[in-house]
Amino acid sequence: MTNTPAYRVAPGADIAEDAVIGAGSAIWHLAQIREGAVLGADCIVGRGAYIGSGVEMGAGCKVQNHALVYEPARLAEGVFVGPAVVFTNDHFPRAVNPDLSPKSASDWEPVGVTCEQGASIGARAVCVAPVTIGAWSMVAAGATVVKDVPPHALVAGVPARRLAWVGRAGEKLVPASDGTDAWVCPVTGEWYIPDESTGGLQLASTPVVDAPRPAPLEADDADDSTDATAAVGADSSSSTDSTDEQDGSAR
Ligand SMILES: CC(C)(COP(=O)(O)OP(=O)(O)OC[C@H]1O[C@@H](n2cnc3c(N)ncnc32)[C@H](O)[C@@H]1OP(=O)(O)O)[C@@H](O)C(=O)NCCC(=O)NCCS
Repeated sequence: MTNTPAYRVAPGADIAEDAVIGAGSAIWHLAQIREGAVLGADCIVGRGAYIGSGVEMGAGCKVQNHALVYEPARLAEGVFVGPAVVFTNDHFPRAVNPDLSPKSASDWEPVGVTCEQGASIGARAVCVAPVTIGAWSMVAAGATVVKDVPPHALVAGVPARRLAWVGRAGEKLVPASDGTDAWVCPVTGEWYIPDESTGGLQLASTPVVDAPRPAPLEADDADDSTDATAAVGADSSSSTDSTDEQDGSAR
């Protein structure tokens, strides 16, 4: 009986012996997975990316090329970490103690970045720990996140501030037409309501009595909506394409 590994590792990747990697995952060239890291099923770790000791990552996460996920980061399932993203772990970093002796692990307390389900971090963003990136939120390329990002917020800039709300499909939400404080995804028709416990939005469960409804679509828009739904499928496959690009670089 052959002992086929349940995940793929490109040449040059450096995976600690006690790291746990879920079935269907792919670790690309020169990526490093440190001791005790635990990756769920179907994760992708791009070329040159770093996953710190004991970092936990849920199923279906994508960590793009050269992203640095320092411990003790925690990623729930389906988190996207863009290329060259940095998750810091030392809020007031120093190389040395006041007497110029080198700082050791016991001389500082690591702090982590927590990413909730489905969150996306754009290219070259820096998340300054300790900070929580809320579920299905989106951090723009180049942002510097210094405070918690509420679920479904789209944040950008330095320091990152909220520009808009986004749905699970990654599209910006539009206000519901009925004057309530609900928001609607123009692509999927999903609607979202404020969540006082997080300061963000939450997907509204349907059906709900007296629930706010999405804005009625014009006839043309309705057609667009059908196309746009197809586009969501296309988007997912373009994500897969990006994986394929990784495949390409592996050959
Ligand atoms: C944040 C983002 C989703 C916004 O997209 P968008 O809604 O199409 O953006 P728009 O072009 O309509 O810009 C809206 C406003 O946000 C600003 N903005 C857009 N992207 C920004 C960014 N990355 N940082 C700062 N401001 C940004 C625009 O300047 C504009 O400001 P204005 O209204 O004052 O003119 C997109 O720009 C982004 O950064 N995506 C992430 C891409 C990425 O990193 N992918 C990773 C895989 S390669």
